[in-house]
Amino acid sequence: MNLAVVILAAGQGTRMRSRLPKVLQPLAGRPLLDHVIGRARALEPAAIHVVYGHGADAVQAAFAHQDDLLWELQAEQLGTGHAVAQALPGIRDEDVVLVLYGDVPLTAPATLERLIHALEAHALALLTVNLADPTGYGRILRDDAGAVERIVEEKDASPIERRIHEVNTGILAAHAGDLRRWLSAVDADNAQGEYYLTDCVGLAAAEGGTVQALACHHPIEVMGVNDKAQLARLERDWQRQLAHELMDAGATLIDPARLDIRGSVEVGRDVLIEPNVLFEGRVVLGEGVVVGPGCVLRDCTVEDGTRIDAHCVIDQAHIGPECRIGPFARIRPETRLAGHAHVGNFVEIKKSEIGEGSKINHLSYVGDSRVGARVNIGAGTITCNYDGARKHRTVIGDDAFIGSDTQLVAPVTVGRGATIGAGSTITRDAPEDALTLSRAKQLTLKGWQRPSKQDKD
Ligand code: UD1
Ligand code: CA
Repeated sequence: MNLAVVILAAGQGTRMRSRLPKVLQPLAGRPLLDHVIGRARALEPAAIHVVYGHGADAVQAAFAHQDDLLWELQAEQLGTGHAVAQALPGIRDEDVVLVLYGDVPLTAPATLERLIHALEAHALALLTVNLADPTGYGRILRDDAGAVERIVEEKDASPIERRIHEVNTGILAAHAGDLRRWLSAVDADNAQGEYYLTDCVGLAAAEGGTVQALACHHPIEVMGVNDKAQLARLERDWQRQLAHELMDAGATLIDPARLDIRGSVEVGRDVLIEPNVLFEGRVVLGEGVVVGPGCVLRDCTVEDGTRIDAHCVIDQAHIGPECRIGPFARIRPETRLAGHAHVGNFVEIKKSEIGEGSKINHLSYVGDSRVGARVNIGAGTITCNYDGARKHRTVIGDDAFIGSDTQLVAPVTVGRGATIGAGSTITRDAPEDALTLSRAKQLTLKGWQRPSKQDKD
């Protein structure tokens, strides 16, 4: 069996009131459509067709890196049936077509597999859901024997039909040949003047085929997004699920409702996560890691036993074991901290290696540097790595001691065991095991008088 997934993503999404096309609105940091494509890929289909229209350039550009997608332009949005028809010319009759919606991002691959399996015994398989409030959805109409007869859209439904709570999610599977035949018979003679995909259900039943309505019991899987309020609700529901997965993996979350995951998080045992933490990209936390309140961690690995205090930002960095970071530290891309390093408040580190047990505890900037082991960098130290055109490196040997308020003007090397006197501007290499300092001599002017206000006239 060949599977072709057709994702409908041509609609405008007017109610989003946004320049960004609806299917590019982010859920957990990724476009809605990217979630749908990801779930489609889990089924290993022969092809994924994306029917696009509104915001065509932006939508295609956002997925330029996924070069196996088949883009089907629907220049005018004449309805869901018309949308599916745009993809059919490229699909063989005997192939199975699974229709997904670009704005329904969280359907589980297992649910979709059930739908596809149902086609072995039925002409059409439809994912349905029972909703306490079915407003806006197509209702499932059944005959006296309980067989699905057709779908009626909200706008075409009679008051009695509107009382039906079993609704169409829009997601369905059928053979391409059947869809081709049914869609050629669908007209736009309805309240919205659109070619409804849902009319295929009535046509299938009229031909004597059976329609399998598979109920989805997890509403989150079939929730669509039409406005910002629905987007926010889906985001919270999804985040709650991700937080529970993290707790299942053993993490302690002080408040699962105050955590955001936009990517993946792997945790060792006994990880503790305080409130209001944001994880982005791929984050790996070793055993016993503590992440303090308000931290942002993006694409980073933190090894066992490290403690990150409140309000740190760590981006594309590798943090060794048993480190102490923060509060209020910023660790930028291409930084590696070895074990037992300390990085304190208002310290920024960029593209640097910090050796075992080294300490940078207060108000410093270290960039483009290699810092050895057991180095102590005093408060207010700055590597002057940028001359306005190029970046230069600073190298600091093991056991060096950098006095407070030092500027290290790169390129410069501080030898192992060297001491730099506080307040120095170091422009040339500082030798090993010696004290180097650059300071204006301190002088005191005896008998000097501070001007007083009476003097001025
Ligand atoms: C559709 C279903 C309805 C179902 C509901 C579930 C039809 C006629 N109705 O209604 O039974 O309960 O979804 O959410 O199918 N699209 C295109 N091109 C078009 C029209 C739509 O690509 O010409 C895309 C939209 O971008 C969207 C999806 O298809 O992703 C659904 O379209 P929408 O207009 O939202 O359908 P509903 O009225 O919600
Ligand atoms: Ca819709």
